[in-house]
Amino acid sequence: MIPWLSSPVARVGLAILSCIVFIHVWILPSQKHQKQPQFQLVISHYNENLSKVKDWVTAVREMPFVKELGSTVTVYTKNKHTNLDQIKELLDAAEVIRLPNVGREQGTYMHHINKTYDHIYPYTMFSQAAITGLNDTGNTSRPFTDWLDKSLRYKFTNETKFFNLQHGGNPIFCVCGDCPTGHFPLLPQLQTLFDNKVCDSTERQSISWLGQFIVAKEKVIARPRWIYEYIGSLVDAPEGHWIHQEQEPAGLKKTLGESLPDNPLFGHTVERLWPTLFNCSNEPEMPGCMGSWSPMPGQKKKDGKLGESYI
Ligand SMILES: *[C@@H]1O[C@H](CO)[C@@H](O)[C@H](O)[C@H]1NC(C)=O
Ligand SMILES: *[C@@H]1O[C@H](CO)[C@@H](O)[C@H](O)[C@H]1NC(C)=O
Ligand SMILES: *[C@@H]1O[C@H](CO)[C@@H](O)[C@H](O)[C@H]1NC(C)=O
Ligand SMILES: *[C@@H]1O[C@H](CO)[C@@H](O)[C@H](O)[C@H]1NC(C)=O
Ligand SMILES: *[C@@H]1O[C@H](CO)[C@@H](O)[C@H](O)[C@H]1NC(C)=O
Ligand SMILES: *[C@@H]1O[C@H](CO)[C@@H](O)[C@H](O)[C@H]1NC(C)=O
Repeated sequence: MIPWLSSPVARVGLAILSCIVFIHVWILPSQKHQKQPQFQLVISHYNENLSKVKDWVTAVREMPFVKELGSTVTVYTKNKHTNLDQIKELLDAAEVIRLPNVGREQGTYMHHINKTYDHIYPYTMFSQAAITGLNDTGNTSRPFTDWLDKSLRYKFTNETKFFNLQHGGNPIFCVCGDCPTGHFPLLPQLQTLFDNKVCDSTERQSISWLGQFIVAKEKVIARPRWIYEYIGSLVDAPEGHWIHQEQEPAGLKKTLGESLPDNPLFGHTVERLWPTLFNCSNEPEMPGCMGSWSPMPGQKKKDGKLGESYI
């Protein structure tokens, strides 16, 4: 034995010194690099092809601002037969959660917000596993990154509070439930519920579509949790609940079939509700919603209200 180590004081001293060195060399630096992710991607899955999902998830996580924020993926699947571990591994997800097959993706989103309301991420992107933009042109040689570059890369910034990712151009507007695809009577009723006023029919409201959007924490928590829980309970309602009698707009039932827990017609109202819910329905690019963004290199930012036409 080394002679000076025979003293107990020296041994204790050496032990303390080792601890200090260990903390400085191993623990502190790794904590510095492990910044808490600020962006959560929430995916609603049913039976979509996971290797295709992986393509767009990877592309989203590679977007410069998303990369800067740091991202994490949570998958909800309503498929009884999927292997949760397999999804987790393939999509590099932090968690994969199975939910009962009711309420479609809108029920999933309400469930997620209700559940995480107290600790929701600074930014959450919600999407169906079959994101629009991947192959919605029917043109396989037009890669998804075209669409991403024009939206996420250039328009998602640190000023974004709500980003309606709906594909296909100009924003869609309704007037108190009167939408291009018909009248949705519960849309203005829900607005009344959280805006404390009846719908003003001289104004129009932009709506969301397809269940693809990014929202900042402050917009989510600007509404009380019970709103999400309540709307979630309606969209997840069991068979025989009155909500399944709600069949407007006319023609919806004809196209989509009977309203059932796994395919509630009310889900199509909720699908359109998000900009109103997040108080971004007046002008899609109003301050505090889209924020300011730069046009793609070589393209001009369009003046006026319809700047979304590139998405
Ligand atoms: C899923 O998509 C991949 C890539 O496009 C394809 O190779 C594979 O066969 C698909 N799987 C199923 C079950 O369709
Ligand atoms: C909503 O969240 C609260 C608080 O976590 C929880 O008690 C409640 O059960 C949730 N509601 C639903 C419908 O999941
Ligand atoms: C893209 O969509 C077109 C038209 O629906 C289809 O023929 C093609 O197989 C799809 N390609 C991929 C890669 O999914
Ligand atoms: C498909 O996309 C490519 C690349 O954007 C484009 O050059 C081509 O004209 C498109 N084809 C069709 C049929 O739209
Ligand atoms: C957003 O980022 C820019 C630089 O990229 C910075 O100048 C600005 O202060 C940031 N704004 C906020 C609200 O953090
Ligand atoms: C909605 O946004 C507008 C404009 O930013 C603001 O004046 C209003 O107070 C907001 N309403 C609610 C209920 O937060």
